[in-house]
Amino acid sequence: MNFSLTEDQLAIREMAREFAEKEVAVRAAAIDKESAFPQDLFDLMVRMGFTGLCVPEKYGGSGGNQLDKVIVVEEIAKKCAATAAVLSIHMLFAFLLLKFGSEEQKKKYLPEVTSGGCLAAFALTEPGAGSDAGSARTTAILDEASGEYVINGTKCFISGGGRAKYVALIALTQPEKGLKGFSCILVERGTPGFSVGKTEEKMGLHGSETVELIFENCRVPRENLLGEEGKGFKYAMIGLDAARIGIAAQALGIAEGALEEAVKYMHQRVQFGKPIAELQGLQWYIADMATKMEAAKWLTYYAAYLESAGLPHTKEAAMAKLNASENARFVTNLALQIHGGYGYMKDYPLERMYRDAKITEIYEGTSEIHKVVISRAVLG
Ligand code: CAA
Repeated sequence: MNFSLTEDQLAIREMAREFAEKEVAVRAAAIDKESAFPQDLFDLMVRMGFTGLCVPEKYGGSGGNQLDKVIVVEEIAKKCAATAAVLSIHMLFAFLLLKFGSEEQKKKYLPEVTSGGCLAAFALTEPGAGSDAGSARTTAILDEASGEYVINGTKCFISGGGRAKYVALIALTQPEKGLKGFSCILVERGTPGFSVGKTEEKMGLHGSETVELIFENCRVPRENLLGEEGKGFKYAMIGLDAARIGIAAQALGIAEGALEEAVKYMHQRVQFGKPIAELQGLQWYIADMATKMEAAKWLTYYAAYLESAGLPHTKEAAMAKLNASENARFVTNLALQIHGGYGYMKDYPLERMYRDAKITEIYEGTSEIHKVVISRAVLG
């Protein structure tokens, strides 16, 4: 057993940390205040090769594996959870392409979404199908005459969907087959019948746009089918297993950032004639925060290791996301509490971190869904 990062991983962490400290930290408050998609930071992440992580160089990627992705997302999330979310969620499209795409599809799409600067999205959720993803009703029916899928339906809460050049859409190609009737279809922005609906106003994660996608008799060629017909639900679940590790990393980063702020503040803030770092009640908060965070870190790294090694990781990914997201809420809450009234003010980053942490318990599967996944795996 080896708990050390490799030379390459240490170098990636250093690069991501420097990027987060120099470029991201200074933008985080404005991104939140203005609900501004961080296009400039996304472009920088493309240039630095972060959007190409986990994709081989021959497809325009920068190589590496899930653990490299976790390290990068974690570092960025310490300073700005929204920027980390943009990166992490964008990468799910490439994951699906790499895993299930034909050679032709890999060559067509991967260079664009890794080093080419195009944003991509994944569309599963619908107004009536959130945790019960299998109740989605969007259809993509093959019109044999034209050889095109005709897509109808509405997807909601789609991160990055408004700017994405490509969307990996989960839709029913054979509605009568239930869960085995879903397929994954690639849809390009600008295709007639495909439009972007409302942009959500959210509690946090303001820089990561969340939109509705509307499909009205939207026709895409048969070649846009990813993998096999009828396997869409399975692909979505496999994709989410990997994506949830990214959200665990995001939650971990938020917690680490909040802990760093709390420690800094406790050394500076003087009350009762001494720095508040000398107050035992607050020291115990720090002990609890640091311990939970360490546990979240190793669960997340372990899930990433399993995925990278090609080993089963559904349960561990769910555990990592459940643990890291609940921990992020716990840690940001106490870090804000340590700051007292200042923590509640927008002059300090804690209120943003606290709001941003909450979504990690909800998106890419709620905590309750992760408990379903974990208990099914344990009980058999
Ligand atoms: N890996 C591979 N296959 C899997 C799988 C996995 N992790 N999980 C399920 N499957 C397969 C099953 O084996 C089964 O296939 P077979 O019939 O061939 O055996 C099939 O998928 C159906 O599985 P279930 O019977 O378990 O399906 P279910 O209806 O009970 O649902 C669920 C399971 C875990 C609750 C699932 O619906 C789920 O994960 N729900 C949460 C959805 C979610 O996370 N949504 C977030 C969307 S992304 C997002 O948040 C937006 C964004 O932009 C960030």
